[in-house]
Amino acid sequence: MKKLVCALLAGAMSMSLLAGCGSKPAEPENTTPENNGGDTNAVSDTLRMGTNAAFPPYEFVDENNEVAGIDAEIAGAIAEKLGMKLEITDMAFDSLIPAVQAGTIDIVLAGMTVDPERAEAVTFTDSYATGVQVIIVPEDSEIAKVDDLDGKTIGVQSGTTGDLYCTDAYGQEQVKQFDNGALAVAALTNGQVDCVVIDNEPAKNYVEANQGLKILDTEYAIEDYAAAIAKDNTELLDKVNAAMKELKDDGTISGIIEKYIPAK
Ligand code: ARG
Repeated sequence: MKKLVCALLAGAMSMSLLAGCGSKPAEPENTTPENNGGDTNAVSDTLRMGTNAAFPPYEFVDENNEVAGIDAEIAGAIAEKLGMKLEITDMAFDSLIPAVQAGTIDIVLAGMTVDPERAEAVTFTDSYATGVQVIIVPEDSEIAKVDDLDGKTIGVQSGTTGDLYCTDAYGQEQVKQFDNGALAVAALTNGQVDCVVIDNEPAKNYVEANQGLKILDTEYAIEDYAAAIAKDNTELLDKVNAAMKELKDDGTISGIIEKYIPAK
């Protein structure tokens, strides 16, 4: 069983990159592979990012039907620094690592947690944010802490660290996988699962959007988010890490995060 981290939510919030304020980067351009004019050299001037846009505020589909959020803006700022055009493809979370391995996308920004198993398949850039796995329950739930999960049905987004931890700790029988967090939360509202284990910021969004739910004041795990790049693409890795460092140093990244997650 993986080590569970229990601390106050407030503690981890202060660890997030919330401080500072930076210049606003250009909004990312959403394009599809079909409309890049069939340019066979697209890879060199286009940064093809993959994400799973059901993870607000890191990524979501906005009212213009475009992928927006922290990751889209950070990728937009990186692309701008590298003189590249950003192209975002929305896909299943499970498909992101295979897609970057296959070369159909160049980079993943998806609130993706740095994890040793994933690091065997892809290379992670430097981390740009912190995430916390939390537990969402109905307001009147008897689940009050991590220990109470024993024997309960846990909803998760398939292939996420929440899924991996819970399946490891409680076995497949106790864990129900959903295509995205919103569907897991819908199952919680319908009483099909007893709780949902998911990252704290999407959790807050889901709890706000659905009545009768709350987030427990215990943390299941604290994690680092980073972008993922193909193992052999060291050139892009170096460029992205260099751009990311500049964007951290000048406050752009903390500014983007704070725009979506205002410091309390
Ligand atoms: N941080 C978790 C993980 O890496 C969940 C990420 C889910 N992201 C998404 N865009 N749906 O497994």
